[in-house]
Amino acid sequence: MFLNAKIETDRLILRPLIEEDVVPIFKMATEPNHFTYQPDTPPADVTEIENMVQWSKNCNQKNTPEKIYKFNLAFVLKETLETIGIGGLGPHDIDPQEIEIYYGIQEAFQERGFTSEAAEAILNYGFNTIGLKKVIATVHPENTASKRIIEKLGKNDCKILSGLTGENSAFNSYLLYTLVKSE
Ligand SMILES: CC(C)(COP(=O)(O)OP(=O)(O)OC[C@H]1O[C@@H](n2cnc3c(N)ncnc32)[C@H](O)[C@@H]1OP(=O)(O)O)[C@@H](O)C(=O)NCCC(=O)NCCS
Repeated sequence: MFLNAKIETDRLILRPLIEEDVVPIFKMATEPNHFTYQPDTPPADVTEIENMVQWSKNCNQKNTPEKIYKFNLAFVLKETLETIGIGGLGPHDIDPQEIEIYYGIQEAFQERGFTSEAAEAILNYGFNTIGLKKVIATVHPENTASKRIIEKLGKNDCKILSGLTGENSAFNSYLLYTLVKSE
């Protein structure tokens, strides 16, 4: 369910990361606006992405439905087989007991519905194949596209994060969405 995952949507295949994803992910992660609405920072060099891909593979070896270390998936465009984005499921920084959904896509492919398509497929996989009952998402309040993606995923609870300290303080004022599997 993790190592051999292959999730198909109309236009995309979502699959675990491989070495060929390093260059397109590095390209995406170094685009000027990629981290505008995220607490992380761009990679210093391509080695960081190489290491991340290797780490993702290691996580996938250990992932179980009960404990997901990180389940990273490349968004591969069926038409050309190029990797255009990345997303997945993994423990959240604030509370590692909670599993969050996340995603990002190269600028050249934005505003064409690709991430909405991928996010819906990831969430369904989380609920129906992995067996999760709840998935969360934290979104910067000004990240209109991301808010829209989450809001389209169904009936969600949303609250504004506040009072966080230390490393987590970067998430103050972020929206915390809770997506619950419908019975
Ligand atoms: C956020 C992000 C993933 C959106 O990806 P995308 O593929 O452009 O999203 P979609 O095309 O599926 O669009 C989702 C919705 O947002 C809207 N939207 C897309 N870009 C928008 C923008 N710049 N401003 C306002 N709305 C926007 C779309 O119209 C769509 O709404 P609709 O279905 O009602 O028409 C992309 O901008 C990105 O990678 N940003 C950098 C990383 C990031 O912020 N990740 C999310 C962290 S929470």
